[in-house]
Amino acid sequence: MDNKAPSHIAIIMDGNGRWAKERNLKRTAGHSAGADVARKITMHCSNIGVDYLTLYAFSTENWQRPRLEVEFLMKLIEKYLKQELAIYLENGIRFKSIGDVSKFSKSLQKIIRLTEEKTAHGKKLTQILALNYGSRDEIVRAVRKLNEKNLEVTEANIEANLDTVGIPDVDILIRTSGEVRLSNYLLWQNAYSEMFFTNTYWPDFTKNELDDIISDYNNRERRFGGI
Ligand code: FPP
Repeated sequence: MDNKAPSHIAIIMDGNGRWAKERNLKRTAGHSAGADVARKITMHCSNIGVDYLTLYAFSTENWQRPRLEVEFLMKLIEKYLKQELAIYLENGIRFKSIGDVSKFSKSLQKIIRLTEEKTAHGKKLTQILALNYGSRDEIVRAVRKLNEKNLEVTEANIEANLDTVGIPDVDILIRTSGEVRLSNYLLWQNAYSEMFFTNTYWPDFTKNELDDIISDYNNRERRFGGI
């Protein structure tokens, strides 16, 4: 691909449930298929030189889903991270989480922490999973930290206390499945992102479709409020 890779891509992986329903499968089968696509897209981003890929895996609102689906997602995230470790290490991928993981089970918190520690020296892509993440919650937690530290409320200070500290703003935001909403995802970090909405359900999303989006992005002119 001749295109310049963006530094930061963020994705709302939507449509797993509908994908499964269309195939007469349980919604959870859609989530499993979605996790496989997350792996493929992560590898592709790493190969084409993207620096950061942030995936919305569990939102602060997802607790409202049926108990069994929430439990399934927790187990899936745990299984995914255990399987991924070897792949992260082989490919120089660094793993990071954002969100308030203190609400997760102790065992899941431990796996998240260990995966972050073991991959901390990865020099290629950083894969960021948004886990129990909500942007408003993140901003509130950041402002509380400023209060505790007695720091002035400035853009720089807020930014330095967000979960995404050190990570550049989003360049490309993608939402699959035809929904055109941000759903409390990286509200601060998406201030100047280019947004792409596709009807494809997440389990059907391919690296070719991502390449097309990156081409389109390369043809857009970003003015950041200037002219
Ligand atoms: C939205 O589809 C998807 C989620 C709420 C969860 C996203 C989780 C995954 C893709 C699997 C886990 C991923 C990793 C990387 C561990 P939906 O269920 O809202 O679909 P629907 O709108 O069609 O019902």
